[in-house]
Amino acid sequence: MTEVPEHLLKRASEARARMTGEAPAGEAGAAPAAAPSTAPVPAAAASTPAIPEPPAPPAPVAPYVQAALRRKTIPVWVIPVLLFLPIWAIYYVGYLENPPAEPTGLAYEGGEVYAAQCAGCHGAGGGGGSGRQLNGGEVLLTFPSLEAGASYDGLAGMIHWIANGTQGTVDAGMLNYGDPDRPGGARVPGSFGGQMAAFGGNLNAEELLAVVYHERSTFGDAGDEAGAAELALLDELVHLTEEEGVTSFADASLEEIQSWVDMARAQLGEGGNEMAAG
Ligand code: HEC
Repeated sequence: MTEVPEHLLKRASEARARMTGEAPAGEAGAAPAAAPSTAPVPAAAASTPAIPEPPAPPAPVAPYVQAALRRKTIPVWVIPVLLFLPIWAIYYVGYLENPPAEPTGLAYEGGEVYAAQCAGCHGAGGGGGSGRQLNGGEVLLTFPSLEAGASYDGLAGMIHWIANGTQGTVDAGMLNYGDPDRPGGARVPGSFGGQMAAFGGNLNAEELLAVVYHERSTFGDAGDEAGAAELALLDELVHLTEEEGVTSFADASLEEIQSWVDMARAQLGEGGNEMAAG
């Protein structure tokens, strides 16, 4: 066996040390600088477990949870229905508060006022009761004239009568109201056996004009040409009193009312003079 020379053994040991990063055998205290030690870093990274832990076995499910899972759930189509529900509710309430087709206008308002304030004494259909009969043309026999200048026997007289009632008419110094030549004789306040209250303070100007129209059209000349012309005149009168700042007929004299009626007739033009009496 030939002996390996000492310097070759040393070189081999150094080369092994370069490859493995360990200090050459027998020279632990003097590792060469040419052999940087980088190996420990990958060794540390490899120490974290790369394989995920196996999942824990599922916990046992309580019977009431199983029952809940088995129970039928709400179908999917219910969701849009539920979303739409509040919108529908808002629309529904809105329609309750604002009826879409509420009738308006003087004729409608007159019917409302009559039912609330007059029907109790004059009957729902104007047939009379504790108040005089108005239907069958009776009210137009008392206040027939729609001629310009008509006062006690026309529209002005009727407005004044309703605004003042029995006592107010007597207080105004009138011995009778309406057309003195009406069939059955002149109307004397109080002659019917009861008193009619004054409505001038209770009803505003528009409400009073509306109920005048209601009585004349519904119990008199409803639907015909004169009725249409009369509605136009009363509509004009509503605008005119509004413009003049007349809010009620409570303190208006017969002459004042007559002048307003004539002004409204003039504003309507020639047509106003052609209106026939009922
Ligand atoms: C408390 C009962 C009562 C109420 C309410 C009442 N009236 Fe009268 N009305 C009478 C009486 C009574 C007479 C007859 C008065 C008289 O002879 O002095 C009368 C007469 C009339 C006349 C005259 C009829 C004619 O041919 O002589 C008219 C028009 C009239 N009322 C309209 C109305 C209107 C419009 C209302 C509602 C705003 C109304 N009345 C509410 C009791 C009432």
